[in-house]
Amino acid sequence: MKVKTSIKLMRQDFEGYRSFLIDIQENATLLDILVKIKEEMDQSLSFRSMCRAGVCGTCAIKVNGKAVLACSTKVSIFGEELVFEPIDKFVVIKDLVVDHDPIYFKLKLRRVWFDPRKENIKLTEWELKKTERSHECILCGVCDSVCPVLEVAQSFAGPLSLTRYQKLVFDKRNANLEQKTYGLKDMNPQLCTHCMNCSYACPKKLMPEAIIKEEESLLVEKGMLIKDTGGFDFLGI
Ligand code: SF4
Ligand code: SF4
Ligand code: FES
Repeated sequence: MKVKTSIKLMRQDFEGYRSFLIDIQENATLLDILVKIKEEMDQSLSFRSMCRAGVCGTCAIKVNGKAVLACSTKVSIFGEELVFEPIDKFVVIKDLVVDHDPIYFKLKLRRVWFDPRKENIKLTEWELKKTERSHECILCGVCDSVCPVLEVAQSFAGPLSLTRYQKLVFDKRNANLEQKTYGLKDMNPQLCTHCMNCSYACPKKLMPEAIIKEEESLLVEKGMLIKDTGGFDFLGI
């Protein structure tokens, strides 16, 4: 069944929003709408979509204020009035396309990659499970776009980098576990307020907030971080 849907799209050329009224299939994705508009109504519209399968992370946009992947989100969850905008906290290149370079810059700066040990190391199923979420991050930037701490604390690495970093400090196949744990301290996971925005928004359901909590606990266990109790000492009551 086709549904008449009213669309407002952030467009640079029009210095604001441009409106469209289109018929779309009930089970269409947000990306289907963008493709239809570009092919039939507005050829100069810019957006990104490299895989159309929820794998490349390039199609993140904001619809009715919610950051989502355009290729894997059905229109039906938003109703019949949609406002398309670029995700927050990234520099807009054009229309819905944002600059992803800061993501790669941050990962390079912190050397967020694995240095495998020479010897073979067998992991238990539990150990594998613990870090698999970190491997599944597609660098879409949605979590960083909804994190309020990134706006106010430059020393906080943010949920994206901390999610990718998790495997480096918990997977014993990494040759530089200790060095990476010092690196983790510089990323200041303790500045996370645990507001859960990133975990609710992550399209791959990786729960970045929970990962950050584990990283913070690791630093506390290793004596590299002392948790501030805010002056509350329940043993002293
Ligand atoms: S839970 Fe932490 S990292 Fe996630 S959005 Fe909130 S402050 Fe940012
Ligand atoms: S943690 Fe989730 S929201 Fe953040 S970049 Fe990775 S996949 Fe995207
Ligand atoms: S187009 Fe690749 S994740 Fe959406």
